[in-house]
Amino acid sequence: MDKKLKVGVLGATGMVGQRFLSLLENHPWYEVVVVAASPSSAGKRYEDAVGSRWKMTTPMPEAYKDLVVMNVNDVDAVASKVDFVFSAVDMTKEEIKAIEEAYAKTETPVVSNNSAHRWTKDVPMVVPEINPEHFAIIESQKKRLGTKRGFIAVKPNCSIQSYAPVLNAWKEYEPYEVVVTTYQAISGAGKTFKDWPEMVENIIPFIGGEEEKSEKEPLRIWGHIEGDEIVPATSPKITCQCVRVPVLNGHTAAVFVKFKNKVSKEDLIKKLVEYKGEPQELNLPSAPKQFIQYLTEDNRPQVNLDVDFENGMGVSVGRLREDSMYDYKFIGLSHNTLRGAAGGALLCAEYLTAKNFITAK
Ligand SMILES: NC(=O)c1ccc[n+]([C@@H]2O[C@H](COP(=O)([O-])OP(=O)(O)OC[C@H]3O[C@@H](n4cnc5c(N)ncnc54)[C@H](OP(=O)(O)O)[C@@H]3O)[C@@H](O)[C@H]2O)c1
Repeated sequence: MDKKLKVGVLGATGMVGQRFLSLLENHPWYEVVVVAASPSSAGKRYEDAVGSRWKMTTPMPEAYKDLVVMNVNDVDAVASKVDFVFSAVDMTKEEIKAIEEAYAKTETPVVSNNSAHRWTKDVPMVVPEINPEHFAIIESQKKRLGTKRGFIAVKPNCSIQSYAPVLNAWKEYEPYEVVVTTYQAISGAGKTFKDWPEMVENIIPFIGGEEEKSEKEPLRIWGHIEGDEIVPATSPKITCQCVRVPVLNGHTAAVFVKFKNKVSKEDLIKKLVEYKGEPQELNLPSAPKQFIQYLTEDNRPQVNLDVDFENGMGVSVGRLREDSMYDYKFIGLSHNTLRGAAGGALLCAEYLTAKNFITAK
């Protein structure tokens, strides 16, 4: 790329926003020129607006400290400075829907981490290794919005990333019944142990809205384009329980699967480790070289040892074995704020840039 694209981060002071900024610090294609947040942060230096809320383990990049935070709601002012934006604002669903559409209508593509538009019929929800063909729906969306280059694209929920890629690798064996329990890290709620002390040595068996997302979002990813909408798949049936556990980063999933077609354990493992998608073929900057690794030790994958596999963009699987009631069971692990949030959105943006959906204004 001759010249880096100019990027804005909406919700830049929050946890996911901080993750975006950290990932974009030395990005070969993108340069952050706008950090935007709520009116209470607007006008402040980024470092002052964040104050003691910096949640990354690496220090705040110097390049961002003196940027003056803009107000997310000043859509035209932000849009005039950038080629596209990442969205990680925490507002009501209706407010997020409206503001992301407002940005798209200024001819500014929006790659969003939020759930607000995940079921908008012509908004693609994509894991680039699984369903990049859904980005084609953007043409229908642009017609609806009346735009030439503005659109919204989203990534799915963090909870599904430890098992949906695995089930996708096994698609030809036709998984038809799946039982999942997720063990989800506290950073998924934008928290650390410092700001959520009740989570120390604790388990909370409820995460608002998460079970529905975990059961339904994989079906939309496996759906197809029909006219001007994405029609979700109807199989496999997934039932899920989501549990918050005292882990900082890393969502683990314990999964049982029934297959229509008989398959050996060796073949299932082969499908996982050989899985390659378009991000690997296109050699996108944030694409993991190996999307899924299989660990043979009985005590893996472990959060402490495996969550950062492929810079947090890979999925780790282990303990695949036959089951007495289902066909197989396994454990999956993925990084919830990297693959599951900012990293997943960044990979979508890279794919969209490689395919000329996102260009310089
Ligand atoms: N954490 C995760 O792993 C994760 C994963 C998937 C999806 N998500 C979703 O991503 C979004 C951000 O999550 P987070 O954990 O980063 O939240 P967060 O730490 O609370 O950050 C929220 C951001 O939104 C801004 N904001 C809040 N109210 C606003 C308003 N009225 N107008 C404009 N900006 C406003 C905040 O600005 P100020 O600092 O100025 O208040 C801040 O920059 C949420 O929708 C969340 O559900 C999070």
